Amino acid sequence: MSPSEVSSNCHDKCVFLKIHFMFSSLCSRINLMKKKIQKAANSSRLSMSRRPRRLRQSETVRDAVAETGFNFSQLVKPLFVQNQTKKKTEIKAMPGQYRLSLNELLEEVEFSIVEGVKSFALFPVISTALKDAKGSHSTAQNNLAAVSIAKIKKEFPEAVLYADIALDPYTDHGHDGVLKNGIILNDESVEILTQQALLMAASGADFVAPSDMMDGRIGAIRNSLDAQGFANTGILSYTAKYASSFYGPFRDALSSAPKNGDKKTYQMDYRNSREALIEAELDFQEGADILMVKPALAYLDIIQSLKQNFAIPIAAFQVSGEYSMIKFAAAAKVINEEQALLESLYAIKRAGADVIFTYFINDLIKIFKA
Ligand code: PBG
Repeated sequence: MSPSEVSSNCHDKCVFLKIHFMFSSLCSRINLMKKKIQKAANSSRLSMSRRPRRLRQSETVRDAVAETGFNFSQLVKPLFVQNQTKKKTEIKAMPGQYRLSLNELLEEVEFSIVEGVKSFALFPVISTALKDAKGSHSTAQNNLAAVSIAKIKKEFPEAVLYADIALDPYTDHGHDGVLKNGIILNDESVEILTQQALLMAASGADFVAPSDMMDGRIGAIRNSLDAQGFANTGILSYTAKYASSFYGPFRDALSSAPKNGDKKTYQMDYRNSREALIEAELDFQEGADILMVKPALAYLDIIQSLKQNFAIPIAAFQVSGEYSMIKFAAAAKVINEEQALLESLYAIKRAGADVIFTYFINDLIKIFKA
């Protein structure tokens, strides 16, 4: 090594040391500043022993203390089935929902089961030619609902099927019961509904789900199910079903909107909540296995009240209008669809629903798969 080389080496070393020194002092100054900033952020100007925000500091902590959750076994997917040969048609009022042919229905059921959602509520689209004032076709052997249920249970015995019991898909006037001189006859309607329930049970429905709101139908249906050897067929009662404008898109799907008037003489008045306790008490006494509130989001108080007062499972139906409002608002880019649908589902859960009927099943499958 030549002397000049030595001196240049020494010089390099000195420069290096100097830079190193400057750098580390800068670092420690930055660290000090960071600590000061942190301290300022954490400084307690207010004296509080309880700061709820401590439990919201990270996603992991938030997840750990979340009070509500749901799993796919608690969800029920409503499906529309139409005349067996037709290809599926989109329901304009419900983007992403279809009236399915029998084969498409089976495909949809299979897809859901594979993804973990195994419960379904079936709604048949009945052709106008088969509708009459009494909804006679509702009890016809081998009608679309009966055939669809039998087919699904044959192919997928593990599926859990909820059969809707009401006359509106089958009546030419669109009401859930028998209409005479402008009045929906209660007891006459219950007789037909009971026959419809027996047909659905015989076809393989796990639960019959009376959505008609006639008085006394749960007891009548329970009695005849038991008498006919269907003691294991359950009843999910649409207990607190309100006369609601949120059913609009559903009635579009089935072409079942009432031709005259509304459903206020049998569905509940949305100004009332205590009345839901009377309905629930009756259904409970008459043997309902599950009590349902419908619609869901505008009736969280009712869900909560039934949950607090009855020791059987509570279901909620997030109805067509609730679905479509989120879909259309998202399409107009005024709302985030995924966040809005999750928020509404968790709200329904938080209120106390055990089982939720929702049209968002395929969206949920996508969200939780990702
Ligand atoms: C039929 C029935 C209706 C719904 C479920 N079963 C419509 C109504 O009562 O008019 C509504 C479902 C929905 O809007 O998603 N009784």
